[in-house]
Amino acid sequence: MLLTAALVTFSSLLFSASSVTSRSQQVLATGDFAHPGTFDQYDAGLFSPVENLQLLSAEQFTTLWHPTFPKHSVRVKKSRFCDGAVDAYTGYIDIEARHLFFYFFESRGDPEKDDVIFWTSGGPGGSSSLGLFMELGPCRVVSDNATIYNPYAWNSNANVFFVDQPVGVGFSYAEHGESVDTSQDAGKDIAAFVAIFFEHFSKFKGRPFHMAGESYGGTYVPAFAAAVYDQNTRLKELGMTPVNLSSIMLGNGCTDMQTMMPAYHDMQCTNNTVPPVTDIATCVHLKQLVPRCEKWLRESCFDTFDHIACGAAMAFCEENLVANTMYTSGLNPYDLRTPCDGKFNDRLCYPIFKQIGTYLNTTEMRTTIGADSAVESFEWASWEVNTAFAASMDIAFPSQHYITALLERGVRVLVYVGDTDFMCNWIGNDKMTLSLEWTGKNAFTAAPLREWKVGGVKAGVARSFGGLTFATISEAGHMVPYDQPERSLELTRRWLAGEEI
Ligand SMILES: *[C@@H]1O[C@H](CO)[C@@H](O)[C@H](O)[C@H]1NC(C)=O
Ligand SMILES: *[C@@H]1O[C@H](CO)[C@@H](O)[C@H](O)[C@H]1NC(C)=O
Ligand SMILES: *[C@@H]1O[C@H](CO)[C@@H](O)[C@H](O)[C@H]1NC(C)=O
Ligand SMILES: *[C@@H]1O[C@H](CO)[C@@H](O)[C@H](O)[C@H]1NC(C)=O
Repeated sequence: MLLTAALVTFSSLLFSASSVTSRSQQVLATGDFAHPGTFDQYDAGLFSPVENLQLLSAEQFTTLWHPTFPKHSVRVKKSRFCDGAVDAYTGYIDIEARHLFFYFFESRGDPEKDDVIFWTSGGPGGSSSLGLFMELGPCRVVSDNATIYNPYAWNSNANVFFVDQPVGVGFSYAEHGESVDTSQDAGKDIAAFVAIFFEHFSKFKGRPFHMAGESYGGTYVPAFAAAVYDQNTRLKELGMTPVNLSSIMLGNGCTDMQTMMPAYHDMQCTNNTVPPVTDIATCVHLKQLVPRCEKWLRESCFDTFDHIACGAAMAFCEENLVANTMYTSGLNPYDLRTPCDGKFNDRLCYPIFKQIGTYLNTTEMRTTIGADSAVESFEWASWEVNTAFAASMDIAFPSQHYITALLERGVRVLVYVGDTDFMCNWIGNDKMTLSLEWTGKNAFTAAPLREWKVGGVKAGVARSFGGLTFATISEAGHMVPYDQPERSLELTRRWLAGEEI
């Protein structure tokens, strides 16, 4: 879910930019690792893995740690909720003063063999419980206090994580006012978390690992996967098993604003998957502004990055190309087929967001999952985190460069898009994948956009070459597994199996 403020605050940046510190240039610090020379072998009597998740207590947290990550530990407990058939594991990864909450569900298929998927929702600031309890988790929230079984859950044939990240989101928290405001920073904690998990639950070691995310996840996930990939070099040096990063999956992602901004015009003014939703006079005006927006973005955000100028360029593009359809059209910008259900700012057109918030904030659920009392009130979205990321201009980071780097290293990339979404729409994602500068570029751009089917019925169109696949899902908006659960699961199944979509 790309939250409203991610775009709204582009404009507020115009007024607050001077008070904002410039984007910190993040380098993947090795400081989070113990010095490689410190340990002859990581497990030289210092470390014994938990190995079996079943042995964890349902009553209290078990704490896990690892000598390679002296600043990190993991608290985890077992519980039975949501799925009913398989156990759920919830807990925190503690990184000194930072604490990330996660849910983990074993596969309903063969947990001993199935792949592992990491999921993050977007925002920035959206809790991954939105993905869990609305889209691809084992159950769906149907009222303030009830869930139903989801037969199309992604844990049908995979072991799946949902992580509230970065700190400050959902049940995740930090002490001493610590916060994270870039995808690169967030990725360091995620990479450490992933390494610790595989070290402890050794039956998953070497298992193909897929990192998936939605919406702002199009920015997060390429950076997170890059952190996991680069970390493997260190893990190998330390004699540890590298994480078998197999693919990334971006669902209705916003990855590259250079290609997405012009697509906002096309999505509202052309007859592409949805008829034009904006009047002719406005469309003609917008068409003239598109080149100005593109030029300004290129000069201020991409050719060179100037924090204030880039903020101004984003604000100009957003006010003209996005705001009208998003706020004043009365349409649901996450699904242009429908009017917005309720007030946009209250629940982003989906009553279920608030229901999930209420459901998870009950004492009963908090106890079941072991929510820390430091989080007094569960909020499904953190506007603070959203504002902090907007202020750092994280969205202007060209995350597509991570995608090409991953492709060059054999990590597969799936870009799938519900085709009636406006916010991170298929037109922009199509352009983004076509303009990726990688060795497979010519073959990919030459590949046809072909139909793909589920149960003999057209499910969308797809283009593939080598490790890269772009696919649309028909009759789906921003949240594909919510709108088209069966197509979404089948797409995931084929992708994990390495079959053609
Ligand atoms: C759930 O909420 C409804 C409506 O507020 C209420 O009638 C019902 O008793 C609640 N059920 C449970 C199990 O708490
Ligand atoms: C990693 O996963 C792939 C499947 O994606 C598998 O073929 C390969 O053997 C795995 N590698 C390791 C080292 O386990
Ligand atoms: C708009 O697109 C739809 C679906 O492709 C098509 O059926 C319809 O004829 C198009 N309308 C116009 C005016 O081209
Ligand atoms: C969550 O529950 C706490 C404690 O009952 C309450 O103070 C808080 O307002 C609730 N939060 C929301 C968003 O309803």
